[in-house]
Amino acid sequence: MNEPPPSQASSQVGLAGQHGRSASRYGDPGLAGFITRSFAKSMGFSDEDLRKPIIGIAQTWSEFNNCHQHFRELAEAVKRGVWQEGGLPLEFPTISLGEVFLSPTSMLFRNLLAIDTEEMIRAQPIDGVVLLASCDKTIPAQLMGAASADVPAILVTGGPTLSGRWNGRDLGACTDCRGFWTEYRAGAIDDDALREIEDALCRSDGHCTVMGTASTMAGMAEALGMALPGCAAIPAPDARRFRLAEASGRQIVKSVELGLRPSQIMTEGAFENAIRVMLALGGSTNAVVHIVAIAGRLGIPLPLDLFDQLSRETPWLANIRPSGRWQMEQLFEAGGVPALMKELLPLLHADCPTITGRTVGENLDRARVRDHDVISPLDDPLGPEGGIAILRGNLAPDGAVIKQSAASPNLLRHRGRALVFDDLQDLMARIDDPALDVSPESVLVMQNGGPIGAPGFPESGNLPVPKKLLEQGVRDIVRISDARMSGTAYGTVVLHVAPESAVGGPLSLVRTGDWIELDVPARRLSLDVAEVELEKRRQAWHPRPRPYSRGWGRLYVDHVLQADRGADLDFLVATEGPD
Ligand code: FES
Repeated sequence: MNEPPPSQASSQVGLAGQHGRSASRYGDPGLAGFITRSFAKSMGFSDEDLRKPIIGIAQTWSEFNNCHQHFRELAEAVKRGVWQEGGLPLEFPTISLGEVFLSPTSMLFRNLLAIDTEEMIRAQPIDGVVLLASCDKTIPAQLMGAASADVPAILVTGGPTLSGRWNGRDLGACTDCRGFWTEYRAGAIDDDALREIEDALCRSDGHCTVMGTASTMAGMAEALGMALPGCAAIPAPDARRFRLAEASGRQIVKSVELGLRPSQIMTEGAFENAIRVMLALGGSTNAVVHIVAIAGRLGIPLPLDLFDQLSRETPWLANIRPSGRWQMEQLFEAGGVPALMKELLPLLHADCPTITGRTVGENLDRARVRDHDVISPLDDPLGPEGGIAILRGNLAPDGAVIKQSAASPNLLRHRGRALVFDDLQDLMARIDDPALDVSPESVLVMQNGGPIGAPGFPESGNLPVPKKLLEQGVRDIVRISDARMSGTAYGTVVLHVAPESAVGGPLSLVRTGDWIELDVPARRLSLDVAEVELEKRRQAWHPRPRPYSRGWGRLYVDHVLQADRGADLDFLVATEGPD
């Protein structure tokens, strides 16, 4: 091995990092370089290695995260690419957020992962970083952290699972989790069938394979320019995902050379592109909260009215469940997100820079739709508007969100009497009570499901249809809450009502029997109660005791912002670009 002589080696910046963030901590950069090189050599690295740009790989593998079970192999593929391009890949762990294994809700920890990612990028001698993410909260959390750290970064998602198969039909988590559970509660399928479905539903590595939050956020990351074109839809076990991970490893080294920072890629135009792609995908309502939070880290405001404006101008193109018919495998075969973006190109900012070093328009040169049943043409869309609508009115002065593409058309204009539940516990205790005074015209209202109230802003907003109605054949009913719902869910469900009931928002004033009017085409959500009466209720309202007195929970409830501001912590939002 041709090692440089010691004097030459000690003059190298080496593991102190080319941006010099960590070396100065010791006060003497020469000493810091000497110590860090020496310690790095204990891992077997040579001077030749230590002269390369250092590429951190933010690893979110965990056995409590089924969606990330292949991430150790994915990291190895990234490393190959980094080595090929002349970088030194060093993998480091952050916390991992497995959607179904976290209590009380993974959303309580999104901002914690964002802090972890940001601080580890800042603290370690990293020139560029590869973010490995997949499950719902991990993509937004890592993009939030990377935006704040503003060191060159590229996202590699884990990809969707293969479609499940049962009784000759495709299954998709977790739209079918909910659908079959509803049928089970209605007595339409038995225990044996339910067990067979449980065995067949999740067939491989990867995130949920419908257009849930993970698929939506992966598509938006691609549209933002933070992931290589095609990244979002390649199935998790497909060899092409590992080749894309390898290419991402090569690309991050080039991005370091170009000095391409997240703040140069995630611009206002890029966020508009991402929102339009989300709308055309029929994406998850959760994406609204997440993208506002990511933009907030860069000092870019994304008011809810912008989502509504773009939704009215952006047609729904992707025929993917839960809004449509197909799953992510078919989206991949139809050309993936690049093909969808090619259709949308007249509505996109084609000149936005991306992580490839080329513009959005240049990246799409060779993209084309291979199956118009999966991705509709722009001039013959599945729906004239995007999947998401923003509602306002005296019940939601700061806005509420509905996924109109997954709602029942006959309920989009509806007036009904409220049936109010104080919180999730009250709901679970009473929803299947045979004596429940409910009809198909009722409007179910759940309070205390928001960022502070629940706490953690859980996906409890898809309130179950009461068993009494299920047995009558009813499968949808208007539901309203300040909670979120899984992107894989469906129904006429109004979410993210802001301000939330736990801070005294109007939702806290609703009483059973009040008239509520929902008018999605007019974007209205109204509580039909006289202002005098509402004022009386306001005076009588008292906040509940805060749920945490210490630790992360305390920090969270003391600082979390409302849904319309992305539910980030107030002190993490940038006021003038990244810190
Ligand atoms: Fe991870 Fe659905 S459980 S994406």
